[in-house]
Amino acid sequence: MRTIDWVDGAVELVDQTRLPGECVMLRLRTVDELVEAIQRLAVRGAPALGVAGALGVVLAGDDRDAIARLRAARPTAVNLAWGVDQAAAHLGEGSQAVLRAALRIRDDDIAACLAMGERGADLLEGDGLRIMTVCNTGGLAAVERGTALGVVQTLHERGRLAEVLALETRPLLQGARLTTWELARMGAPHRLITDSAGPYLLSRGGVDAVLIGADRIAVNGDTANKIGSYALALGARRAGVPFIVVAPESTIDPATPSGEHIEIEDRASGEVVTFAGVRVAPEGTQVANPAFDVTPHDLITAIVTERRVIRP
Ligand code: MRU
Repeated sequence: MRTIDWVDGAVELVDQTRLPGECVMLRLRTVDELVEAIQRLAVRGAPALGVAGALGVVLAGDDRDAIARLRAARPTAVNLAWGVDQAAAHLGEGSQAVLRAALRIRDDDIAACLAMGERGADLLEGDGLRIMTVCNTGGLAAVERGTALGVVQTLHERGRLAEVLALETRPLLQGARLTTWELARMGAPHRLITDSAGPYLLSRGGVDAVLIGADRIAVNGDTANKIGSYALALGARRAGVPFIVVAPESTIDPATPSGEHIEIEDRASGEVVTFAGVRVAPEGTQVANPAFDVTPHDLITAIVTERRVIRP
């Protein structure tokens, strides 16, 4: 199954807000429909957003306003703007050239995730590995296989995986809803933990490596990823556990010198004051809801891309 694809003149994607209850495909024919899908996280995860951005330019044609709206639909994952720019660079060559460029980005993502899986699995030593991860970095965050969870998948295929500890990832529960769903489909052993249990379980010695994805990697290696990543990096450093970022080259942003330049998406308060649709905080409660945090490069053991291993 592909998370996102171009099918008969439209963008088709899995509506991730409906998982794990039901697996429903959406068929989107306009940029506005795609922007709405991106903003409500029907499609999400940096590599998938890159493909969505590129395919969205095919929908936009030469409507520059629509392309600008698409490019700005979410600010932190640089892959979205990157995918839009890659496809839009071919606008002067006609619609077929734009489509070809977008499909190349889709195909490159499939190949990149396979390569990251191999390289990441090669980097880790030993068998019976216990991996901690946050958010969802599997096939649902890309096209077919994922980034950090792609490494987990390769480890599992090689018979080297003992267990995955998946953080639930409040407030939108990508870990609880999506990562567990993917791990179950893979047949990979896993346990779900609360976000705040992550650093404690690291301190108890039950984890061999933390593997995370990335939404944007600055030139100096500072990495923006799902909120909670920084706490895991601190816990991993204290516990002496390798903290490894797995992301395609397209997530490295040459225009961002360091983490303080990364725009962090603030999301709606309703995501925090409710749980599974039920209000849990008193009416009028004020909220801070950063969707991502930045892990400084000195806490990162290695960054694995489809081409190389970087040690920031
Ligand atoms: O808000 P989301 O669900 O789009 O956040 C996704 C993440 O933080 C992922 O870890 C990141 O995009 C890498 S996905 C391979």
